[in-house]
Amino acid sequence: MMTAMVRPVSRVLRLGCVLAFCFQVLVPCGLPGAWGLDNGLAMTPTMGWLHWERFMCNVNCQEEPDSCISEKLFQQIAEIMASDGWKDVGYEYICIDDCWMAPERDSEGRLQADPKRFPGGIHHLADYVHSKGLKLGIYADVGNKTCAGFPGSFGYYDIDAQTFADWGVDLLKFDGCYCDSIQHLAEGYKQMSLALNRTGRSIVYSCEWPLYMRPIFKPNYTEIREYCNHWRNFPDIYDSWESIRNTLDWTSSNQEIIVPVAGPGGWNDPDMLVIGNFGLSRDQQITQMALWAIMAAPLLMSNDLRSISPEAKALLQDKDVIAINQDHLGKQGYQLRKEDNFEIWERPLLNLAWAVAIVNLKEIGGPRSYTITLTSLGRGLACNPNCLITELLPEKRKLGFYEWTSSLKTQINPTGTVLLRLERTSSAQFSYSVVSDSL
Ligand SMILES: *[C@@H]1O[C@H](CO)[C@@H](O)[C@H](O)[C@H]1NC(C)=O
Ligand SMILES: *[C@@H]1O[C@H](CO)[C@@H](O)[C@H](O)[C@H]1NC(C)=O
Ligand SMILES: *[C@@H]1O[C@H](CO)[C@@H](O)[C@H](O)[C@H]1NC(C)=O
Repeated sequence: MMTAMVRPVSRVLRLGCVLAFCFQVLVPCGLPGAWGLDNGLAMTPTMGWLHWERFMCNVNCQEEPDSCISEKLFQQIAEIMASDGWKDVGYEYICIDDCWMAPERDSEGRLQADPKRFPGGIHHLADYVHSKGLKLGIYADVGNKTCAGFPGSFGYYDIDAQTFADWGVDLLKFDGCYCDSIQHLAEGYKQMSLALNRTGRSIVYSCEWPLYMRPIFKPNYTEIREYCNHWRNFPDIYDSWESIRNTLDWTSSNQEIIVPVAGPGGWNDPDMLVIGNFGLSRDQQITQMALWAIMAAPLLMSNDLRSISPEAKALLQDKDVIAINQDHLGKQGYQLRKEDNFEIWERPLLNLAWAVAIVNLKEIGGPRSYTITLTSLGRGLACNPNCLITELLPEKRKLGFYEWTSSLKTQINPTGTVLLRLERTSSAQFSYSVVSDSL
């Protein structure tokens, strides 16, 4: 039985191809000019590394010198990001999360790094990161304390923004713990955005405003987008399939609200990539990579790049999948339908191309096949009149040319995903390839 899903696209589909064409082409152009944070940043989703999921709040450098939150960790990761191909495929921001601070502000009210774990200070670390051609991210909190209990920025927004700018910081993740009211939360996120702007330094602003607001108040994403470059909607990701699945479920259940608001300069943030850690099978890692590309999500890895497996590295560095994530049309994908424990997601791309992901959610049995009719994809246009289909994950291979009225059979492992790219071809190209194939 088909699960009926209310989708923003179904209405358009009924009105036919001409309107569907307008929908796709005109919406990105027809947006009001001033609907995003005007700092020129995050025109495509931010890519980089963030320490939280893998290293959390480990401050014990005596016993665990290699995995505690210290300048050594960030220097080593930066070194590898620059030398091991990460920077080359786009991972640029190396980001500090909670637990970098000393327990008290300095005599002038400024935040300071823990002097034992960051003996050189953040300015020095930023210089090092910049010398590798990378950018540095830092973490603070809108309330009275950070989530781990370090000094919060409430009452210090201007001082902290200026401190980060003076240090040469390039991104701020602003958390929402220890905040006693929705007014303080909303005002705080706005004030910090304005304070960052006043420093004159280009600093990507990563918010958790809707996540903390949601239990009490429906977030106004139009407003959030005016102040933030990306925003978390859903609780922290864990290194588990359950966590990935919950994130995808939440996203598809709320897609009518959150998908239209994403675009260049402002993105929904489903949290870190946990590929290369302990909790996900190979197929589940493929699912995370494919769906984070479909969702136009920031790609912030949280893993140990010093010891990552070659398979995880190849998946995270897959240029074709990254190209979907970074596609310049800048439209977030959505779940098209869900049936028989399969989920079909699609994302419109530049030049009328589409990315399609088919997830097999069944956690029992072996690989299952799913046959997709091509007329059902891309509002009827993805393969009209015909298209070239390339499978990107789990294997990269050209599947060849397909006609609009044909269908494609796929086989998908339990909890795995097949990621496809569909390129429309002109009739001339199509006939040529049919002719040359038959020669
Ligand atoms: C600050 O905001 C103004 C107007 O919104 C914008 O033109 C400017 O580029 C911003 N500056 C920075 C550093 O983000
Ligand atoms: C911070 O603490 C002060 C003093 O208890 C309180 O007045 C203020 O509302 C708190 N701010 C936030 C954002 O929780
Ligand atoms: C949401 O915020 C926008 C921009 O600040 C504003 O124009 C709009 O009225 C708000 N919507 C609601 C329902 O409050």
